[in-house]
Parts: sequence; structure tokens; C-alpha cells
Amino acid sequence: MRILVTEKIPGKGIELLSARHSVTVGQRGEFDHEARLVDVIPSYDALLSLLSNPVTEKVLEAGKKLRIVSNYAVGFNNIDVEAAKKRGVLVSNTPDVLTEATADCAFVLLLNAARHTRAAEDNLRSGNFEGWDPFGFLGHELYGKKTGIVGMGRIGRAFARRALGFGMNILYHDVRRLKPETEKKFQATWVESMDKLVKECDFLSLHCPLTPETRHLINKKRLGMMKSSAILINTSRGPVVDEAALAAALLENRIAGAGLDVFEEEPVVHPDLLIAPNCVLLPHIASATHETRGKMSVLAASSILSHLDGKPADSIPNLVYQPD
Ligand code: DGY
Repeated sequence: MRILVTEKIPGKGIELLSARHSVTVGQRGEFDHEARLVDVIPSYDALLSLLSNPVTEKVLEAGKKLRIVSNYAVGFNNIDVEAAKKRGVLVSNTPDVLTEATADCAFVLLLNAARHTRAAEDNLRSGNFEGWDPFGFLGHELYGKKTGIVGMGRIGRAFARRALGFGMNILYHDVRRLKPETEKKFQATWVESMDKLVKECDFLSLHCPLTPETRHLINKKRLGMMKSSAILINTSRGPVVDEAALAAALLENRIAGAGLDVFEEEPVVHPDLLIAPNCVLLPHIASATHETRGKMSVLAASSILSHLDGKPADSIPNLVYQPD
């Protein structure tokens, strides 16, 4: 069988696939364009894609032999899942293995934005440290604060565990309320209305998938409802936040800060975010640890191998949906 891996990935995934099948590995960025995928996909039985690869209806239509798309990411908004379903193409992702790394990164962003570490370090490195200053870089403590979590799935819960360790109070919003015993475990209070959550919390961390419903969930109106001392953290998907509205809120000091690992038009970052005060920016690295990227690699390869081996779909744990 022929497998296209759109570009080199860390870990043993490519080795595992190559031991059993004929594997082509693309160049960095080569398959970030629909037209290039449409051109080559007809000769492949399986595709290992990255979140930057648009696996659209056109690509799936061209992939007459295609049997499975395995995304090297937990998010799969780059894949037209409905179009895949219609054509009997399976879709898998890499859940679980990146939960802890992503929650760590959300916390890195929160701590950095709350304590102005980037500005403080820049100040020191540029030779401006003149000794202990009673007014120097005053930030916000995490202890005792209300942290709002949007999306209480695996990563939201891992963030909640960290927040509990820091003595924070947890509020959450999710389309589905957790079971009472799970709420108790995370000492988490469900807030049914998103508007109420943004008004009440000191910090807001986004852990929901990108869907038509969550696009611009954080918009001008909701940014306007946040406390002036609030900090927004996004490690989910860029378009969940209206970046232009966020940049304006930061530039006008309407909220205290933001920490972003994801952007609306990656790799482009809204120019106003680059100059906004107290905006910590990372280049989509939340899952970037040796351990996690290695596990993602093996998991992404394993669903392809299982499916090409003819194993039943319900035995593949990381499928995005079970076929009818
Ligand atoms: C994902 O998996 O969706 C992250 O954004 C990258 O690891």
C-alpha cells in the first residue's frame, strides 16, 4: 500500500509505516496547499496529515483510493470530516498523548502574562535592571483567583488540575455539564452562560475545538465584559478568538493581558498583537515536547497500520468518528 506523510515528523511513526508499506514523505510546507494535495492524492491509500494541510472535499474527492486520513494533531478542523464520512474514508487524530504538554503550555502562558516575565526579562537583558524596585513589573497572583475554563474535556481538566494546585477557584463552561462526581473531583463550578463566565473570572483559558459555534466565541462584546484585570489564554485554535478585537482590547488596556499559542491565520500573527502590551505569543508549540511528539507519531501511524491491516474500525481507539 502507498502512504503519503505530508512532511517529516519526529518519533518512530514513519519508521513503523515504512517497515510495512511504501511511504512518501513531503517537504516542509509542501502540502499546505489544496492544489498540491489534489495533484498527488490519487495514488495513495492512506494520508498522514498535519494541521496545516487542508484536507478538503476536493482533496477527498480526488483521493479515489484513499482509505484513511490520520491527522498528526488532536484538532482536526483542517479536515472536512463530513466529506470523508460520505466517501467511507476514516479519520483519526492524536488525543490523550498531548493533554499534559498542552495544559503545561497554557500554564506557561498564564504565569508569564500574569507576572510580566517577558517584559521584565527584556528590561534586564537590555541593561536596565537598577536593583529591586517596589514598583517594578507588578503583576497578578494566581492564588485565590477565579479561573474560567472553556471546554472541560481532557485538556481543560488537565488545566484544572494545575489550577487547583495553585489554589485557584475553577469555573467552567461546556456544552455538556460534567457529572456531579467529576465536578466534585475538580472542585469545578459549571457556568451555563458564556457571558456570565467571562464577566466573573479573573483568567479565562480556552480548551474547546474550533467549530462553526466556537468561531469568534471571544469577540468584541465578550472582551468588553471581562474585568480590566483579566487575562485571556488560548491554546485551542486561533479563530476561537477575534484577534483584531483582542488586539484592540489590549492596546486600550481594557483587559490586563493575553497569552496565545494559536492564531487566526497561522503563520501570520495580527500586527497589532505584536505591539500590544502584555501579550505573550508562542508559535503553536503547546504539544512540542520530545515525549508528546514521539507518542503522537506512533499513534498517528498506528491507526493507519490497523486500518490497512483490515482491523475493524471499532478496535481503533483514536478514530474521530465510528463509521455507520
Ligand atoms: C493539536 O494537536 O491540535 C495541536 O494544536 C498541535 O499539537
